[in-house]
Amino acid sequence: MNMIGQPLDRTDGVLKVTGQAQYGGEFPAGKLAHGVLVTSTIARGNIASIDTSIAENLPGVILVMTYRNAPRLPNNGRPKVTPPALRRLSLLQDDEVHYNNEPIAVVVAETFEQATHAADALRVSYRQAAPALDFQAAKANAHPPPSMFGGPPDTKRGNVESGLREGSVRIDAVYTTPMETHNPMEPHAVLALWDGPRLTLYDTTQGVANSQQAVATTLGIAREDVHVISPFVGGGFGCKGSVWSHVVLCAMASRQTGRPVRLALTRPQMFGPVGGRPYTEQHISVAARSDGTITGLRHDTFANTSVLEDWTETSGVVTRMLYATPNLDTTHRLVPMNVGIPTFMRAPGETTGTYALESALDELAYALKMDPVELRLKNYAEVSPEEGKPWSSKHLRECYRVGAERFGWSKRPQAVRSLRDGDTLIGMGMATATYPAHRSEASAIARIMPDGTAVVVSGTQDIGTGTYTIMTQVAADALGFPVDRVSFGLGDSSLPRAPISGGSQSAASVSPAVHEAASAARAQLIALARADEASPLHGLAVEDVTVVDGWVVSRSQPTKRDPAAAIIARAGSRPIEATATAKSGDESKRFESHSFGAVFTEVHVDAALGVIRVPRVVAVYDVGRLLNEKTGKSQLMGGLVWGIGAALEEESSLDTRYGRFVNGNLAEYHVPVNGDIGTIDVTVLDVPDTNFNPLGARGIGEIGITGIVAAVANGVYHATGVRVRDLPITLDKVM
Ligand code: MOS
Repeated sequence: MNMIGQPLDRTDGVLKVTGQAQYGGEFPAGKLAHGVLVTSTIARGNIASIDTSIAENLPGVILVMTYRNAPRLPNNGRPKVTPPALRRLSLLQDDEVHYNNEPIAVVVAETFEQATHAADALRVSYRQAAPALDFQAAKANAHPPPSMFGGPPDTKRGNVESGLREGSVRIDAVYTTPMETHNPMEPHAVLALWDGPRLTLYDTTQGVANSQQAVATTLGIAREDVHVISPFVGGGFGCKGSVWSHVVLCAMASRQTGRPVRLALTRPQMFGPVGGRPYTEQHISVAARSDGTITGLRHDTFANTSVLEDWTETSGVVTRMLYATPNLDTTHRLVPMNVGIPTFMRAPGETTGTYALESALDELAYALKMDPVELRLKNYAEVSPEEGKPWSSKHLRECYRVGAERFGWSKRPQAVRSLRDGDTLIGMGMATATYPAHRSEASAIARIMPDGTAVVVSGTQDIGTGTYTIMTQVAADALGFPVDRVSFGLGDSSLPRAPISGGSQSAASVSPAVHEAASAARAQLIALARADEASPLHGLAVEDVTVVDGWVVSRSQPTKRDPAAAIIARAGSRPIEATATAKSGDESKRFESHSFGAVFTEVHVDAALGVIRVPRVVAVYDVGRLLNEKTGKSQLMGGLVWGIGAALEEESSLDTRYGRFVNGNLAEYHVPVNGDIGTIDVTVLDVPDTNFNPLGARGIGEIGITGIVAAVANGVYHATGVRVRDLPITLDKVM
């Protein structure tokens, strides 16, 4: 029985589709009060006055919390905690406004409707100052990031200027990507309740341990006094990877009212207060010899940040590692604006970076009159270009080959506008996908219960991706139990610590701990049986005994077998328990670990109307071992769908006069619907990367959205001959 990799249905699927799964905003509480967040309507300035008198006298209103009566927090609510745990929050400690839609008050009432009504009745006036809302104007204040994830802000390799001169063909282009806003189906929501000094938060979060630490530090209370519970998350995508203002505000409101308080963001409140992808302007210069060898590559990224905090979209990081070019410069510069703080949004850096880089490579291929796949193979990085380290496992060449074959790439004519079906222009595009493999320390406990079932727990999260399911599979596999006798628990800060579910690291980090704990519990069960005179396994050699389907059995004499429940009953009916902590050793010193993929698109463009469709995507990935074929492929497919949206539809459109997003709602924030998506053919090479972790799994959360954006853009160019360098590629831009 090898459960790992099997396309098992989600173990939490029935709970979800029958409405039994409880999300952050759904937990009940006795004497529950309802909080509603009030946000600013200017982008920069100070609150001149807030008239709360009408609101305070409305029926059911318990508290109107503003900067005037909010409890003072240690360090003005700005403790020193590094992201991603904690951001610069807006906690009503002063009258300053830094962006439009910034939290400025919380109204608490007996019912949600009363709180909403009272929130509307607040009268706020401001002393306005001139906000920075125009990216090009704000570029005058661009500055290097003080630090950033994924490496130093600037890097140099060889001599890029002479490298760029050395090539016979050169491309210089500027690509821009818009601000985008995560919109998981479940907006942020939290229930806060105090029991004396102890705070319980039912929150929707990508990291219960981070949330616990961040909230405790901000409120100035002990970490042990904060309990974060988050069994189900209705989508995360990065926005739920940090604690944002509303969580702490809800805890403050609960303490001040002495009531449990629930606070859910409205959909418009998702646009600003909880992060988003910043605008990027990426300058790429690339030169190559006539045989396609890249001689120089330069990637300069300007991205907006908030005046509140420096946060960097790391678009240039991917350029450092994808191709074996000897001469390379990358830089990142931040452009402070009066907008909410940007944050991680699915493959932060790689999504925008692969769009620019893989578009530029496509432009270079046309200039060289070379096939785009050939160009990439010509510059294939056999070792990591930055440090010269071997890859822990890399099968990108195979991704290109299998992808091209499945797609029928050999039938693609090189020239643009060369394929047509009536009024429809047909294009074929491709691009490379990649995302780094991350792994952090994680712990788990495995228990074999007296009834012969097993319960395995870890303080990890399932953000809709399938953690419950894959960890059940890994545990069942290690225990030798059927999956329906194993349950997995997560989403609770009192469980053994696991990392934040971000950076595509949960599967890769937690599965080794689960495997180790479950294997140790299995070994204890075997030892009990062998030591038990009443067991048919008594006295057998340890190598001869195994566990199959929940029975301890002899390998050599399979009729000798004993069910787990009977063994535990005879031993006194106490659960068997084993704990494990797993982390990487020196692997990251010896290897560079990345996932890779090749994405091919067929793009249809209406010649008269410019309407763009993507009827067919073929994608092949090298992501190490897949822990569940079904949830894994779904995850990759979801990334591809999002990438099609990022290429053609998605944009948070900032009103540069007032700093509001004019499409700050789900009706006008365009993302693909079912009718926008055609065939998506996903292949996973499934080559375990045991240099990375013992299970060989590298994580798949984010790679799906990389590469695809450029693959669509390159397909549009092949179809129309129009190179759109500013996302999204709406129909007006190809006309
Ligand atoms: Mo992911 S954007 O690292 O949560």
